[in-house]
Amino acid sequence: MSDKAKTEVKIERVKEEDIPKLVDLYLRAYKGLEEYAYTHPKDVESYMRWLLNRDPEGFLVAKVNGKIVGFVAGDANWYSRREKKRVGAIHEIVVDPEYQGMGIGTRLMEEILNYFKKKGLDTAELWVGDENYRAINFYKRFGFQERGRYNYWIRMTKSLE
Ligand SMILES: CC(C)(COP(=O)(O)OP(=O)(O)OC[C@H]1O[C@@H](n2cnc3c(N)ncnc32)[C@H](O)[C@@H]1OP(=O)(O)O)[C@@H](O)C(=O)NCCC(=O)NCCS
Repeated sequence: MSDKAKTEVKIERVKEEDIPKLVDLYLRAYKGLEEYAYTHPKDVESYMRWLLNRDPEGFLVAKVNGKIVGFVAGDANWYSRREKKRVGAIHEIVVDPEYQGMGIGTRLMEEILNYFKKKGLDTAELWVGDENYRAINFYKRFGFQERGRYNYWIRMTKSLE
């Protein structure tokens, strides 16, 4: 049996007490991509609290055997200045390096896109580092397309209709 078939992934909403684990996971997952990430644990913690405040319903963890192995921070309240309307923003998606390539990122992405649709949104938007090729390819698989650049960030959107 493949790893993918063996692994049962549960998706749950983030709880306040999960934050220290999310900080640790974030710092490990962004090793080698530091130019696009917060690197100080206190800054990451503040960022996690900001994400939870933005949209607690859209901040989800993936668990395997009760352990948090990934998260997605979706935001159904985001006003996109570029789109000039409210969109579903994916502020963050991160999978524990030891669990990458097993379909967990895909599960998180599917959940958040469904959540945005349920909220009646017609567009998803995200920004990704211009040399974060793995993430860019990951997003393209879901139909995200490049819509422009700002410094070393690429803006991508996807229609939800
Ligand atoms: C991007 C990320 C969330 C993907 O999560 P994941 O759980 O590994 O994704 P999946 O296992 O669902 O893989 C989906 C596809 O991504 C690609 N992919 C995943 N892991 C990969 C790896 N190690 N090397 C190359 N491609 C990979 C593959 O195309 C894969 O397709 P496949 O299932 O047909 O092989 C994860 O790599 C990550 O946490 N990266 C670091 C943090 C980051 O950059 N986040 C995005 C910020 S904008």
